[in-house]
Amino acid sequence: MKFLGLVLVIAGFLFFGSCANEPEQDEFQIGFSQAMTTDNWRKEMNRAMQVETSMHPGFYLEIKDAQNDVSRQIKQIEELISNEIDVLIVSPIQSVPITPVIEKAMNAGIPTIVIDRKIEGSNYTAYVGANNVEIGKNAANYIVSNSKPNQKLELIEITGLQTSSPAFERSQGFNEVISNQGNMDIVASIAGDWEKTSVGDNLKSILDSVGIIDYIFAHNDRMAMSAWEVARSKNLEDSIQIIGVDGLFGPSGGIQLVKEDVLAATVLYPTGGAEAIKLAVKLLEGDQIDKNNILSTVVIDKVNVEIMQNQFNKMNQQQNDIEQQQSIINEQVATYNSQSNLLKIMVGLSVLLLLLGFWAVYLVFKLRKRKRRLELNNEKIITQRNQIEKFAEQLKISNEVKINFFTALSHEFKTPLTLITSAIESISQNPYKQLKDFAYETNLISKNSGRLLRLINELLDFRKLESGSFRLKPLKTNLYEFISNIYEDFETEAVRKSIDLHLETDNKEIMIYMDRDMMDKVFFNMLSNAFKFTPKNGQINIKIEETGADKVGVLFKDSGIGIPKEDFQKIFDPFRQAGNNTKPSSGLGLYITRQFVELHKGNISVSSHQGAEFKIELLKGKSHLSEYEFSEDTSEIRKEESEKALKSTFIPEELSQSLNGNAETILIIEDNEDLSYLLKKRLLGDYRVELSDGTDAIEKAYEIIPDVIICDINLPEKSGFEICQELKRDLRTSHIPTLILTALGDEESRIKALKVGADSYITKPFNFEILKESLRAALFNREKLRYYYTNKIDQVKDNKFEDSEQTFLKDLNQIIEKNLKHANFNVEDLAQQMGISRVQLYRKVKAIIGISISDYINSQRLSKAKSLLQETNLNISEIAYEVGYASPGYFSTSFKNKYGTTPKKFRN
Ligand code: FRU
Repeated sequence: MKFLGLVLVIAGFLFFGSCANEPEQDEFQIGFSQAMTTDNWRKEMNRAMQVETSMHPGFYLEIKDAQNDVSRQIKQIEELISNEIDVLIVSPIQSVPITPVIEKAMNAGIPTIVIDRKIEGSNYTAYVGANNVEIGKNAANYIVSNSKPNQKLELIEITGLQTSSPAFERSQGFNEVISNQGNMDIVASIAGDWEKTSVGDNLKSILDSVGIIDYIFAHNDRMAMSAWEVARSKNLEDSIQIIGVDGLFGPSGGIQLVKEDVLAATVLYPTGGAEAIKLAVKLLEGDQIDKNNILSTVVIDKVNVEIMQNQFNKMNQQQNDIEQQQSIINEQVATYNSQSNLLKIMVGLSVLLLLLGFWAVYLVFKLRKRKRRLELNNEKIITQRNQIEKFAEQLKISNEVKINFFTALSHEFKTPLTLITSAIESISQNPYKQLKDFAYETNLISKNSGRLLRLINELLDFRKLESGSFRLKPLKTNLYEFISNIYEDFETEAVRKSIDLHLETDNKEIMIYMDRDMMDKVFFNMLSNAFKFTPKNGQINIKIEETGADKVGVLFKDSGIGIPKEDFQKIFDPFRQAGNNTKPSSGLGLYITRQFVELHKGNISVSSHQGAEFKIELLKGKSHLSEYEFSEDTSEIRKEESEKALKSTFIPEELSQSLNGNAETILIIEDNEDLSYLLKKRLLGDYRVELSDGTDAIEKAYEIIPDVIICDINLPEKSGFEICQELKRDLRTSHIPTLILTALGDEESRIKALKVGADSYITKPFNFEILKESLRAALFNREKLRYYYTNKIDQVKDNKFEDSEQTFLKDLNQIIEKNLKHANFNVEDLAQQMGISRVQLYRKVKAIIGISISDYINSQRLSKAKSLLQETNLNISEIAYEVGYASPGYFSTSFKNKYGTTPKKFRN
């Protein structure tokens, strides 16, 4: 905006500057107070002044006409004074009354030039005019020179206004010469006022009284003309010689009157207009001027009038030429000025345009800069927004991770609780048995209480670590002995799982300062993790080795599933575990382990190659733990009872089935060995029980086609949802009622279970009776369905229902119907055409319609025969062949067995 203002100021300056009429020099104002302009002499004076002024650029002339009125002249001069003109020129009407106002101008510092008539005193700058005494003398001398010596001459003098200096002076000169002549007498003097009117009557009466006279001297040509008119009126014009003053050129001017013999002569009285302007210019240009500037004069008579006229003509011609030139110059100056102005305007506009151009460019740059700034700001905001979004996302993930963690942890509590409650339930239902008969149950209670305790301890440790309130109590400890102790606790477990467990070291005497509680948890956690992920017949190696002068490393290597490289860091974060880990855990174990190791200024790292390998590095000596208080207790490495309880060595007895062949089969898919063992133990009395830890669930289901399935959700490899869905989609297993038994109690999981076709949903910890009832109900429903299928087989044909059992039966019936007349069509053929095994077909059909498949084919043959008997005229034998019986006799027997009457009777 500042720039715009500047541009406008410059533009305005250029524009107005160029339009103004710039003075090439200072301007001067000349004020002229003219006495009157009634006569040509005065008009000539004005004209001469104007012409002369026009020759001087920068000088301006203002003429004020007083119209022969003294007071008006005074007033006009005062106006000029107050206008602060540079030079004042005055032609006074009268001398005395005008003198003070001229003094006033002089006092105001305005140089004043008096022209023609004089004022009183000498308080003015300069005077211009002819010598009027001389003029009077010239007139008198003319008379003298034209008269004969001693000739008696009578004269009349007509004066101008007597209060004006020329009248007085002309009279003075005239009388001075005449009075010296002895023969000349001025017989009368008329007091005129310079105008014609002041002459006529006076002269007439004088002539009347004196008669003929010789000469009349009038003080100007106008009054001389009037005198001539009076003389002529008396026919005396040829007798009286008249002399005037002024000698103006032009019509009715003095020269013309001489030429026309009206006047004998006229004395030239120059106006002095041009001279007065010249003086004013000189004055204003700082040049010196004379105070008295007397103009020359001459008598014009018959002798020189022609020459004078010629001269005046020439002068006039020249004057006109000059004026013409002047006007041409003026025109050219005007053209020049307007063109120069135009040029200046154009230059101004060009500069303005240029400035506006610069301004536009400047604005473009400024805008670009601003735009860039805005873009940068925008980018910054977007980055910040993205960061905020990222933070929010991270926060969300972190929250989700925590929520998932606590949900998972709650579920972790549920399994041991289920086992404990189930064991207690089992004990309480058999009040008459001895407690020793419940070794398995009590062991289960103890083991799972320990597990709960461990989970709680991990949580408490986590809390303590988070609040930074853990303090080490370092004790000097033999590392090998310490780890051996823990190792021993796992030996039985190793035997049970047929795991090759090894502990080795080069140096059994390595001593380490450690907080035994913490390191016990660390090594125990390492080993239990290794056991968790190592399959049967696997290997677990522990190696203690000195890795430097002051360092000891403890290596835990297993042959389990290993850990994906991308999870190496993640597994040490709280609430997180490796992507391939489906084992139950609090998600805190490795986090706590690392924290404990780091509190010892040690280090834990992981690598994975055919199993997982954890390396814990600890420092020897105690300087690194100087901030802690050392306990000097070097007592035996002891173990806490609660920990021991965790490492129970109880091995449950093999469970044996002792049921008849009609008992229904249950497949329990559960990875918690204790729970599946307990379930098996409790259900064995009523059902044939098969177990799967989830890894072989589908295969086992296809193999045994169980009557009912109990399935957990959180399983290794495949989830319970996936297993259920797969079984429900398969023709062979779609009919099997499936109970979901899970720790997940949320609605989402329930809905998901229903969607994949689960028949029932029971949450842990569960009441065993409820589970049993649910099993019973599921089987009963299956029975009802079977009844429905058996009795409404026709509706099945109508395809009104669209579940997989309907489809199965429909396909089955179609194949049987197509092959009904083939006597050797058997179960094997049917299974093959259905795309399943003979056993699977048998079990499936038995499950959904309650009879064996061969009985079903037979019943289909007989039912077809029944309708043929009713609807056709075929004879019995023909019908027997039509429905696949090789012998009509056997057909009749079978028919009677099923319908209680022979075909023949039935038709009748
Ligand atoms: C003009 C005039 C002249 C004369 C002069 C004297 O007004 O009357 O004729 O010479 O004034 O001031």
